[in-house]
Amino acid sequence: AEYDLVVRGGEVATGFGTARCDIGIRRGRIVALAERLTDAAAALDAGGLLVLPGGVDSHCHIEEPARGGTAGEPAVTVSEESFLTASTSAFAGGTTSVVCFVPQWKGEGILPRLADYERRAARGMLDYSFHQIITDPTEAVLEREVPEIVARGIRSLKVFLTYEPLHLSDEDYIKVLVTARRNGCLVTVHCENYAAIKWRTGALLAAGLTAPKYHAWSRPPVVEREATHRAIALAELVDQPIQVFHVSCAEAAEEIARAQARGLKVWGETCPQYLTLTAGDMDRPGFAGAAFMCSPSPRSPEEQGRVWEMIRRGTLDVVSSDHCGFSMGGDRGKAVNGRDAGFDAIPNGIPGLAARLPILFSEGVSKGRITLDDFVRLTATNPARLMGLAPRKGMIAVGADADLVLWDPRKKVTITNALMQHAIDYTPYEGLEVTGWPVATVRRGEVVMRDGVVQAEPGTGRFLPRGPYAMVQPRGVLENGFDAAPPRG
Ligand code: URP
Ligand code: ZN
Ligand code: ZN
Ligand code: ZN
Repeated sequence: AEYDLVVRGGEVATGFGTARCDIGIRRGRIVALAERLTDAAAALDAGGLLVLPGGVDSHCHIEEPARGGTAGEPAVTVSEESFLTASTSAFAGGTTSVVCFVPQWKGEGILPRLADYERRAARGMLDYSFHQIITDPTEAVLEREVPEIVARGIRSLKVFLTYEPLHLSDEDYIKVLVTARRNGCLVTVHCENYAAIKWRTGALLAAGLTAPKYHAWSRPPVVEREATHRAIALAELVDQPIQVFHVSCAEAAEEIARAQARGLKVWGETCPQYLTLTAGDMDRPGFAGAAFMCSPSPRSPEEQGRVWEMIRRGTLDVVSSDHCGFSMGGDRGKAVNGRDAGFDAIPNGIPGLAARLPILFSEGVSKGRITLDDFVRLTATNPARLMGLAPRKGMIAVGADADLVLWDPRKKVTITNALMQHAIDYTPYEGLEVTGWPVATVRRGEVVMRDGVVQAEPGTGRFLPRGPYAMVQPRGVLENGFDAAPPRG
C-alpha cells in the first residue's frame, strides 16, 4: 500500500484555518494531504472530529532527580512521574512531545547527570528534548560542557532567579546569557526575586503564618514583575534571546510586551494553572492547600482575565503545563517534610500534563476566548518553533512527523485523577468540567491512544536533537558596536 495509515475525513486544524481532508502517513511521517486518499494499509476514521497536531509541551519536569528534604540535605529523590507514566499521561491528553529538564547541582558538572537522564528518558514512549538547567556556571561548565551538550542537540539553558539552592546571581545569569549567545542556545528563565521572597517568607514564618495559603503571600506579583524586568534587561544587554517561563500576572507580561515592542527576542509562556486556579485554592484546612502550590503562585480571578488578555494580544504565545507532580499522600511527595511543614518546606509544583489541552481548549476555544487557530499555535506550533523542533513537530504538514490528535470538540468530560493516567495521586483540576476531549492520539504514525486506552511499547520515545535555528540567533544590536560575547564559528 502507498500509505501505512490514512486519517480519514477529519477537520484538519493547521493553525491557519481548517480543511476537511485525509492525511496520508508513511514511515511515521505525513506524506500527503488530499481530499481523498486510498491505497492505505490501515485507516483511522476522523469523521465529525478535529485533527490537531500532537501537543508539544515545552516545560515538563519528568523523573527529575532533586536534592531531597530540606536545603543542604544530600539525599536524592526522583520525582514520582517516570518517563513511562508521563508518556501514558501525555498520550491520554493529546501531547506527543515534551521538553524536560536535566538538573545540575551546585558543585557538579553537567555531563554525568545528563548521561543518567538520557537513560531514563529513553525508557518512555514520548518524543523528548532537554533543557539543561544551570545552577553552577563554572568555567568548566560554560567553556567545555555546554559546547559538548550543544553538539549533542541540546539548545536551551534553563536558569532560576529564585529557589534555594538553584537561584543565580545577576553575575552568574549574565555568564549563562553570554554562553548561550556564543553557542546558539535559547535561555529559559524562572523569574521571581530570590531575596524578596526570602525576606517575606522569614517575616511570615516569624509571625506564625505558616499554612499553605501563605505561599502566595510570600511572592506577590511585584516579585515576579521585578525579576522579569531584570531578566529581560540583562538579556537585552547581552543581546541574547530568552523565554520567560510560567507568567502568572499581567504586570510581568507587560514587561514582556514592552520588550517585544522594542524588537527584543523575548517570549512569554503561561500555564493552565494561571487560567483556572487562584491563591484561594491554597486556603484550605491543614495540608490540603499544598495540592495547589506552585511557583509563581496562582493569583486572583481578575488576574486570570488579564492573563487571557495577554494571550489574545500575543504577548504570551506558549501554554505549557509546567507539570511537576508530587503526590499528596505518602511521605515522598508534597509531605516530604511532614504534613505540618510550613509553606516554605513544601515542594512546589503541580501535575498537568494530561489536563493541558482539554483545559485550554475548553476554557479557551469552547468559551470563545481564543480561536481554534490560537489553540493550535499556543499548544503545538509555537513551542515547537521556539524550541527548534519545527517543522518536524507542532504542525500538520507534508514532511512533518505524523503526530496527531483526533479531538471531539463537543465531548463533555468532568476531570478526575483517573483520567489523567499519571503517577500522582491527585489532580488540582478534579471536578473541572470541560468541553472538548482527545479521542485518539497518533505518534509518528502509530495509534498510541484510543478512547482513553494507551497502548505503546516502552522505549519507543525518540530524542529530538536540535540544530542551530533562526529564532534564537542574536539580533546583532550592540551597545557602542562592541560585541562582548561573539558567537562561535
Ligand atoms: O512550582 C513550580 N513551578 N515547580 C516546578 C519548578 C519550576 O519552578 O518550574
Ligand atoms: Zn543561595
Ligand atoms: Zn519555574
Ligand atoms: Zn517548571
